Amino acid sequence: MTMALPTSVTAADPATHPTDLLALLVREGEKLSGLDGPLDGLLARIAKEEEFNGKEGQVLSLHTHGKMGPQRIAAVGIGNPKDPDRLLDQLRVAAARAVKLAKSAGAKSLSITGPIEGALQIQALAEGASLGAYVFDRYKKEKKPLKLARVELLVRGKPARELIDAAELGRKIADAVCAARNLVNDSPGRVTPRALAQAARKSADEAGLDCEVLGRAQIEKLGMTLFLGVSQGSAEEPQLVRLSYEPPRGKSAESIALVGKAITFDSGGLSLKTAQGMEDMKTDMAGAAAVISAMRLVAALKPPFAVRGYFGACENLPSGTAYKPGDVIVGKNGTSVEVLNTDAEGRLVLADVLAWAVEDKPAAVVDLATLTGAILVALGPWTAGLFSNDDALADELLAAARTAGEPVWRMPLPSEMEEMIKSPIADLKNTGGRYGGSINAALFLQHFVGRVPWAHLDIAGPASIDKERGYNARGGTGAGVRLLAEWIRRRAAALPPAPKTRPRARKR
Ligand code: BES
Ligand code: MN
Ligand code: ZN
Repeated sequence: MTMALPTSVTAADPATHPTDLLALLVREGEKLSGLDGPLDGLLARIAKEEEFNGKEGQVLSLHTHGKMGPQRIAAVGIGNPKDPDRLLDQLRVAAARAVKLAKSAGAKSLSITGPIEGALQIQALAEGASLGAYVFDRYKKEKKPLKLARVELLVRGKPARELIDAAELGRKIADAVCAARNLVNDSPGRVTPRALAQAARKSADEAGLDCEVLGRAQIEKLGMTLFLGVSQGSAEEPQLVRLSYEPPRGKSAESIALVGKAITFDSGGLSLKTAQGMEDMKTDMAGAAAVISAMRLVAALKPPFAVRGYFGACENLPSGTAYKPGDVIVGKNGTSVEVLNTDAEGRLVLADVLAWAVEDKPAAVVDLATLTGAILVALGPWTAGLFSNDDALADELLAAARTAGEPVWRMPLPSEMEEMIKSPIADLKNTGGRYGGSINAALFLQHFVGRVPWAHLDIAGPASIDKERGYNARGGTGAGVRLLAEWIRRRAAALPPAPKTRPRARKR
């Protein structure tokens, strides 16, 4: 529950700068000569002895015994990625590693230096440092408070405003990612639909966003029968949430919609999962957690277009009131669905929420959902599947994901597979047989977005991990948050801000 680390950009000579730990990022094959000082020769000698050559993951540390500004120096290898986006992710990983070294050394201050260039790299380092400091210890009797109080990114010469802003943005992004992790990691008995809606409201209030929370009666009025069907086995009231950002200069022509899956616990319902299959199902609201956090970043990025975040929160439980395999339910957009498996609940809720979101006429809608186990079979545990009816939108998201360091792979939406989700008695059925499970689910969702450019990110893999990896701790990762922030930033940069004053009416 660590707060993000204050991270600044500081002009200093790393050799003389007083700090508890200096992390020296080293590219593979690069000479260890970035430090001019009494230990410079020694460092290079030890590096040679220890065969440290800057390979990704290598670390070399030594104590300076008061001979230099830093008390300790740790050289951290970052490999030699040629691709600038890969390098950015190496910097995130290296900054996280530096923070962990600082933690185990009991350091109060950490400085990072190395071949750092430009705003994106500063941002990546700030992100990595704060993401690497994260621990979920809300329920631990013994909390080890982080001694590390600040991180300084050392640059030569007075840092430009752009770099200072980049460090600040990186910290904010990490903060938002960690807020999403907290929601995912907390227990399903606490993060109920109501609590998730409250968390959205609190986050919106802090960020200055509008937030609407609708209960059962209003959801009924909106005709969201699929959503209600999933929720009806639970004693918790379903909650429908819309977060709204309006650009500072008033109404804009374009708007964007973000939709998150928000099953606060997925038991499978009457099509009950196995005990093991349920162990991680508190994470089934990770899509909504990402949307809540992304909306917070939207408020900070202030794009010149409106952005709205939507989720329908409920539990999927078996009970005497639960929806049943065989039920036929007519969704908000008039499409009827035969429910064959109550464990394919995510697509049912999303169907109604997507149908609602597109009524606001967005220029694009992106949903994030821990939708299928099949995406893990297809892409492994760390990669999200991207499905889209619009190549330009898909390309935008893929490019943003690369820069943000989130692995995403585009998947097909073959229309010939539609027959797999056709029902003999309704328009659709909610399962599509054994093969291509993630594709079936995406094809199903497509029926509810009309003609709006839409992309679906199946984040069932990357939303949580079972052991620490790079800058991600075990548990919720905050998958999707950085990707969405980067996508919105790019879209904002591509669209010039609306003129301050309206052009006067031309004389005829
Ligand atoms: N929430 C699960 C998907 C999931 C599985 C997420 C594993 C993370 C890890 C989803 O609601 C689900 O149960 N999907 C079923 C669909 C099937 C019944 C068609 C699945 O993947 O097995
Ligand atoms: Mn399920
Ligand atoms: Zn689910």
